[in-house]
Amino acid sequence: MKVFVTRRIPEEGIRLLERECEEVEVYPYDRIPSKKEIINGLKGKDALLCLLTDRIDREVISSNPNLKVISNYAAGYDNIDVDEATKRGIVVTNTPDVLTNATAELAWALLFAVARRVVEGDKFTREGRFKGWSPTLLLGKELSGKTLGVIGAGRIGTAFALKAKCFNMKVLYFNRSRNEVLEDKLGAKKVDLDTLLRESDFISIHLPLTKETYHLIDYDKICMMKRDAIIVNTARGAIIKEGDLVKALREKRIFGAGLDVYEKEPKITDELKNLENVVLLPHIGSATLETRTKMSILAAENLIKALRGRRPKYCVNPEVFKD
Ligand code: DGY
Repeated sequence: MKVFVTRRIPEEGIRLLERECEEVEVYPYDRIPSKKEIINGLKGKDALLCLLTDRIDREVISSNPNLKVISNYAAGYDNIDVDEATKRGIVVTNTPDVLTNATAELAWALLFAVARRVVEGDKFTREGRFKGWSPTLLLGKELSGKTLGVIGAGRIGTAFALKAKCFNMKVLYFNRSRNEVLEDKLGAKKVDLDTLLRESDFISIHLPLTKETYHLIDYDKICMMKRDAIIVNTARGAIIKEGDLVKALREKRIFGAGLDVYEKEPKITDELKNLENVVLLPHIGSATLETRTKMSILAAENLIKALRGRRPKYCVNPEVFKD
């Protein structure tokens, strides 16, 4: 069992791989490897442990006919050509669940930061502009008692919505299927996307990036939102048409936005960076010590199990197991 890991991940996962595998090669630099470097690293290996920043397309997959497993160190797997992997009988795995709370918490952090203008306030204070309490300084928006719209009520969307209970919020959700947990625990209502956009004060996106969700939120959709609404995205950047969001924020069509993810990550346009009514984070939804450690263990366990021909806990293409 020979493995290529595209980046140094927390030790626990690497140790597990080293204990169980004959060879573990870890990409030695703290940067995103190029496609050529991934292809080189994959030579003579049986399995790949990769990150959401690695584009594992047909060229990479077909470069090694012996590749048996692709273990993604992320819940989202839009960086991998899963159809190509499946055609070749390669098992693809991911790391959901362990990052649910961390990501849901960060979505709340972003929401509060935008609503209460936390980043603007920090900047203002550091710049020495705080000259004493003022009745009109940095007025924001209160969350309690308002309507929360959750786009995508899977694991993370559910964990995010459940925390709304503390703030006595009304919860609307947009999802393919009914979410009985949200309905029972919060009295949440399943609605169509346009209703959610029109009626929510705060909106948070928790969908995977697919052909259907690409640019789901464009200028027209943003204009359906309340003039003082806030939208937060901790899922995948391209779910929002970023240029349209910039235009809407510039025109103050909504109160603000909180982004952890970007359409052309890690590129962020100057137009976006120059806006005051947006809080920008560097894709840190799952970035807690606890979660990243658990992700490394889970990614290693998935990989080892799949290499042994057994079905791993989180497999995104279970059809490759013919049993
Ligand atoms: C994921 O796992 O998909 C997250 O975006 C990582 O932070």
